[in-house]
Amino acid sequence: MALPLHRPASGDGVVDPDEADKFLRLYYTENPSAGPFWPRLHEALAEITATGTYTHTYEELVFGARVAWRNSSRCIGRLYWQSLRVRDRRFVDTAEGIAVEAVEHLREATGAGRVRPTITVFGQDRPGRPGPRIWNEQLIRYAGYRGHDGTLLAGDARNADITATARRLGWPGGPGTDFDVLPLIIEAGGKPPLLATIPQDAILEVPLVHPAYPWFAELGLRWHAVPAISDMCLEIGGVCYPCAPFNGWYMGTEIGARNLADADRYDRLRVVAKRLGLDTSSDRTLWKDQALVELNVAVLHSFEEAGVTITDHHTESRRFLSHLEREERSGRMCPADWSWIVPPLSGSLTPVFHRYYDDVQLTPALVHHQRKSQYEG
Ligand code: ARG
Repeated sequence: MALPLHRPASGDGVVDPDEADKFLRLYYTENPSAGPFWPRLHEALAEITATGTYTHTYEELVFGARVAWRNSSRCIGRLYWQSLRVRDRRFVDTAEGIAVEAVEHLREATGAGRVRPTITVFGQDRPGRPGPRIWNEQLIRYAGYRGHDGTLLAGDARNADITATARRLGWPGGPGTDFDVLPLIIEAGGKPPLLATIPQDAILEVPLVHPAYPWFAELGLRWHAVPAISDMCLEIGGVCYPCAPFNGWYMGTEIGARNLADADRYDRLRVVAKRLGLDTSSDRTLWKDQALVELNVAVLHSFEEAGVTITDHHTESRRFLSHLEREERSGRMCPADWSWIVPPLSGSLTPVFHRYYDDVQLTPALVHHQRKSQYEG
């Protein structure tokens, strides 16, 4: 039976030849020294006819991963898309092997504090043979423990479900602090998932202190240095790489204005406000706003003191607009999603606030899976 065309890439591992054509055209257009396009297209189409999919060259993979970053319309940090380090680990196909490589990714990306944007690409989906997956949203995530009645006992509420899943799979749980790092849950080769503990020395963390308030350290807040998204699928030319963890460095507001501040995350504004001696009797005193600023001061200061790469929202907004200009000069459109690009603190103080953007879904891309495995509850 002939393979139906125009299937979505993330599904059964069957590649739409039009997607392959579109990507290879882009690759050869942007890399004129790569040689002639037609022989490569014919080779890829023949492989698709024979197997349902095709194999990217190393150079195509590197280019595809970088362009997927370039196309990420929610990301403000795209100025350096060309410097993304690409670790080709397509040949690593066991859960154990993936665990080892995920840890090595963290070590290389952390760079002892000099964070390097990095992606590690594992095997692609093939017809009848889905690629591996990491169930965790990021390589480093803090557990969230719920009591029987559903109230949060400790940690990050966002990760309560994945914490429960890890326990169901046999994780005994951590010491029960607010910052217990979860084990990785890795599924590969059609087998039940593997739990893998990340060694402590592969996890760089920064305890938070404030430049002006010594009591701030007593709050016991901390955050990890490297945000490494591990549950998005890298789609290149119709091929889906479901396991392709990638990281950049943090922008302070992600930690100070969201992770530690959101009411459904660490919800720490009230305790900061209390220690600042603010009047918390009414929203109109703007105690939340004042506490939010001091929390963000602490984040930027602590990372800087610890020698860990971090950027602030003012700098990053300016860089983003340079990126946008540069893209337009190169004759490309730069898709952007205003609601994600504008920082969650002092939006109108940054130049990215004062304009609108075109947003379209270009490929290659980093996308969330629609697929769930048979092992997921
Ligand atoms: N906002 C997410 C977090 O706080 C990380 C998203 C990616 N961020 C980045 N700077 N590359 O963990």
